[in-house]
Amino acid sequence: MISLSDSEQPTPQTPPKKPGGPPAVSVQNLTVTYRTTFEKVPTLRSAVVRLGSGKRTVKEVHALQEVSFDVPVGTSLGVIGANGAGKSTLMRAVAGILAPSSGRIEVRGRISSLLALGVGFNYKLTGRENVLLGGLAMGMTRAQVIERAEAIAEFADIGEFMDMPLNTYSSGMGARLAFSIGVHMDPDILMIDEALSAGDAEFKVKAAKKMEELMESARAMFLVSHSLASIRDMCDDCLWIHKGKLMLHADPQTCIDAYTKFLKVGENAFTMEDM
Ligand SMILES: Nc1ncnc2c1ncn2[C@@H]1O[C@H](COP(=O)(O)OP(=O)(O)O)[C@@H](O)[C@H]1O
Ligand SMILES: [Mg+2]
Repeated sequence: MISLSDSEQPTPQTPPKKPGGPPAVSVQNLTVTYRTTFEKVPTLRSAVVRLGSGKRTVKEVHALQEVSFDVPVGTSLGVIGANGAGKSTLMRAVAGILAPSSGRIEVRGRISSLLALGVGFNYKLTGRENVLLGGLAMGMTRAQVIERAEAIAEFADIGEFMDMPLNTYSSGMGARLAFSIGVHMDPDILMIDEALSAGDAEFKVKAAKKMEELMESARAMFLVSHSLASIRDMCDDCLWIHKGKLMLHADPQTCIDAYTKFLKVGENAFTMEDM
């Protein structure tokens, strides 16, 4: 394992609630680089040249760079940072949806992810059919999912739309259904990416309550949110990510303070002094 001793930012570890046990999630030197291949709108000349060479333009995005942290059992981990920081990439990598470019991710337990809400949905199928598919994908049996379908529909508050194709849903209904599926799967590790921004105020309250309830039984929770108040209220550990780098791993209040200060001071000043 490459050591991180040369990194500028120490990443203090919060002590596990159950000392001695292995962490629920361990991330070591995680690096994710997106490579997008595209052809620039060709001029006639460049098109001719490229025909000969077969060259394409490759754009690399360093979405995560050498990120390491442990999530002890019982932890509710908040992840904050500006748009494009790499939060969703981190969640997708931990959930196993995205392969790391390098580094290691160890996960102990079944993950229920509420990532990019509705990404796994088939919009031609009904809500009920999507619930079944989602549940099976998360490792539940058919009988278990069918048994929970009503509770899922009720929590999502979608009424008779449960038996309508998803392409008839409003975006709020789709998001509520996705959230409801995720929280009804008895997850060991619950991952929520901006899910609270879906739905109205009433649903947000219900969702927050449900998440707190789940935390009682879940081994760990990841919460990505722009709502710093939610992070403060619901999490007991926090990561601040900026441009793919782990800036700080500390308690939520310390992270929120550092991040808000960073936003106020302005990126340039901070970058020059602290990065
Ligand atoms: N599928 C993708 N292909 C190429 N670049 C991507 C892809 N997904 C995200 N990115 C880029 O990676 C960076 C991190 O994105 P993301 O993880 O979505 O950040 P956040 O969730 O913090 O807003 C951004 O620069 C984004 O444009
Ligand atoms: Mg995101």
